[in-house]
Amino acid sequence: MTRAAIVLDCDPGLDDAVAILVASRYADLVAITTVNGNVSLDKTTRNALVVAQVAGLDAPVHAGSAQPLVPHSLDASHIHGENGLGADIDIALTRRVVSDDAVGFLVELVKERDDIHLVAVGPLTNVALAIRRDPRFASRLRSLTIMGGAACGGNVTPTAEFNIFIDPEAAAIVFDCGVIVRTIPLDLTKHVIAHAAHVDQLRAADTSTSRFVADLLVYYGRIGATVKVPTLGALHDPCAVLAVTNPELFGLVPRHVDIELDGQHTRGMTVVDARRNVEPADQNALVGYSVDASRVLRMIVDASIDPRPAT
Ligand code: BDR
Ligand code: CA
Repeated sequence: MTRAAIVLDCDPGLDDAVAILVASRYADLVAITTVNGNVSLDKTTRNALVVAQVAGLDAPVHAGSAQPLVPHSLDASHIHGENGLGADIDIALTRRVVSDDAVGFLVELVKERDDIHLVAVGPLTNVALAIRRDPRFASRLRSLTIMGGAACGGNVTPTAEFNIFIDPEAAAIVFDCGVIVRTIPLDLTKHVIAHAAHVDQLRAADTSTSRFVADLLVYYGRIGATVKVPTLGALHDPCAVLAVTNPELFGLVPRHVDIELDGQHTRGMTVVDARRNVEPADQNALVGYSVDASRVLRMIVDASIDPRPAT
């Protein structure tokens, strides 16, 4: 079976780190591009390199946007830790970025290849800039999938999910780009939560990546106990990768999604039109509502134990 060729645009980030391992195991991970989000760009980029090094991955890393389209300095370091990967990672980094121009890399890659599935699990700044630079960018992709948004309640504000809230202008460009955006929202990812038993399995396997992920999950869990965020501890980002490689695990419904840019209480909200009379021509998203969480968690554990491509 041919593996989906995936570029993972991410802001590692605890769950982003796991998404990289999942992409490596179940897809052909063509490249990793980084973006400002959970922590600053220099940290998300370093973290992507750390994961690639620990896992022995060949995928090149390209650094992307350091600021949302409307600059600000909000992040999620209170959840992911000051460095973005929880507790201090003691590693002599030998991997380097291939370029500081993730947007240029993405634009040129999809001119050369027609098989790229872009999976974006951070704020959508790089993707929006690629669409702006080449209006045909999105239509050249094999598919576009994001982890982001929420149909029924956010995690940063009552209505907004983090990735969309950090750069709503970018998200609006993406949902307006003319292709169907496979959308994996909080409503679904909040059911994919690792438990102590998963950490035990990772510790028992005792590989370099399983030890690494076990530490990340323990950190994530501790923070979860102290910070009041309903979805904390959820492994959001690997779900977006698996929605491409294993669509049978997800229930997706065609919808129209708009991004609220102005609301006093609702900026960054994904306004999901679930009315039955939305014309097919007006649908711009396939929104995830259900997931086989136990199978997804099993696949995540397997990838964390051994991120080499599954045979
Ligand atoms: C999203 O926000 C980030 O903190 C996570 O990495 C995930 O991509 C969940 O809202
Ligand atoms: Ca993320």
